[in-house]
Amino acid sequence: MRYTKELLLWIVSLYLVAGEFQFSIPHPEVTAPQHSDVLLPCIFTSGRIELKDVLIVWRHDNTELIKLDAGQMIPTSRRVELFVNEIERGNASLLLKDVSISDEGQYECGVVEAPNEEYGIIKFKVTVAPQVFLNASLFVMDQPGMLECYAEGFYPRDISIRWFRGATSLPSQEAPQVQSNPDGTFSALSIYMYTPSGGTANEPVSCRVDHNSRNVSWVKTTRLQFRKRPSVTVTSQVLGQNKEQLLTCRLDGHYPDDIVVSWMKNGKALNKSELKGDGTYVTTESILLTFFNKKDNFACLVEQEGFKDPLTKIIPVEMEDHQLQTQERKHKQEGTDLLTKSDGGNASGTSPTNQSDGIRSE
Ligand SMILES: *[C@@H]1O[C@H](CO)[C@@H](O)[C@H](O)[C@H]1NC(C)=O
Ligand SMILES: *[C@@H]1O[C@H](CO)[C@@H](O)[C@H](O)[C@H]1NC(C)=O
Ligand SMILES: *[C@@H]1O[C@H](CO)[C@@H](O)[C@H](O)[C@H]1NC(C)=O
Repeated sequence: MRYTKELLLWIVSLYLVAGEFQFSIPHPEVTAPQHSDVLLPCIFTSGRIELKDVLIVWRHDNTELIKLDAGQMIPTSRRVELFVNEIERGNASLLLKDVSISDEGQYECGVVEAPNEEYGIIKFKVTVAPQVFLNASLFVMDQPGMLECYAEGFYPRDISIRWFRGATSLPSQEAPQVQSNPDGTFSALSIYMYTPSGGTANEPVSCRVDHNSRNVSWVKTTRLQFRKRPSVTVTSQVLGQNKEQLLTCRLDGHYPDDIVVSWMKNGKALNKSELKGDGTYVTTESILLTFFNKKDNFACLVEQEGFKDPLTKIIPVEMEDHQLQTQERKHKQEGTDLLTKSDGGNASGTSPTNQSDGIRSE
């Protein structure tokens, strides 16, 4: 129930007519952020106030909180306070410290100064502001992708999350899913399936969150990032039969970098590692060098569980007619057992014939 100004004026004027005692609750509804200190105002005036003649009682949802009785202050909690000096001036306001959601409810200020006795009600509400996050998946042009807007840890439950492209409200928006948290607050998630197309694909997309913990909206904005397919080329399309050779698959122009490449043989996955006759494996990892110059040096880094230090092999390069030549044979001594297995056909002990036999497919 709301006390209107008119009603207050009427109460005040009634006591003016009666002469002495006046009582008012200047703000019948008080809202404050969690963890703040809040004053619940309660004002009275009378001809002359003797502390010992006044009884002031504050109740929260009918439970006594603090009382000033015959000059004695009787609080029930350290978080509530009345001001003796102020009471002498007709100010019975209550200070609530470090408020939390459980402090919400109805507060009653009672002032008794015989023969006068007045009670007033304040409705107290707490707010907790959300934290807002906007999350966008990677998009493909003309295909729907997911936009997510999170509002976390707010109170009370009512919240609005709206989606915009530039200043334009996006069509077919659904109400956010709201869930309650153990601490009494709420979290909301709004998911919007968005299809970027044509000239508007580069316009920023934003989510706007409105909640009564703040007069201003929260706005989070993002520019969409697009996934791109690579062009795929495979080197050495002509293969010599039963000859050791390197096949390279090159992906060009993809975004982002999280892409997995694998090989198939006769429609079945081919491992990079092959089991050899002696129970060990041979693993080949090739890299396509695109940008390099004379001074660059390359290294193959091998990390294996059970060994403390990584195994590193440096491969110096020489430029020759715009061709890269690795000097593997000259620098073989820098390698170690594990690496020399894969740096030349002879050292691995795998003849071309049993290499192809050794390939296991799943
Ligand atoms: C009542 O007392 C409190 C605490 O000192 C003070 O903050 C508030 O302004 C006072 N109210 C009035 C109307 O004097
Ligand atoms: C946004 O998405 C990424 C990837 O799915 C996820 O790791 C991250 O936690 C998300 N952020 C939020 C606020 O949920
Ligand atoms: C191929 O890889 C799979 C999965 O990593 C593995 O289980 C299988 O043993 C491998 N096969 C060979 C021949 O190494």
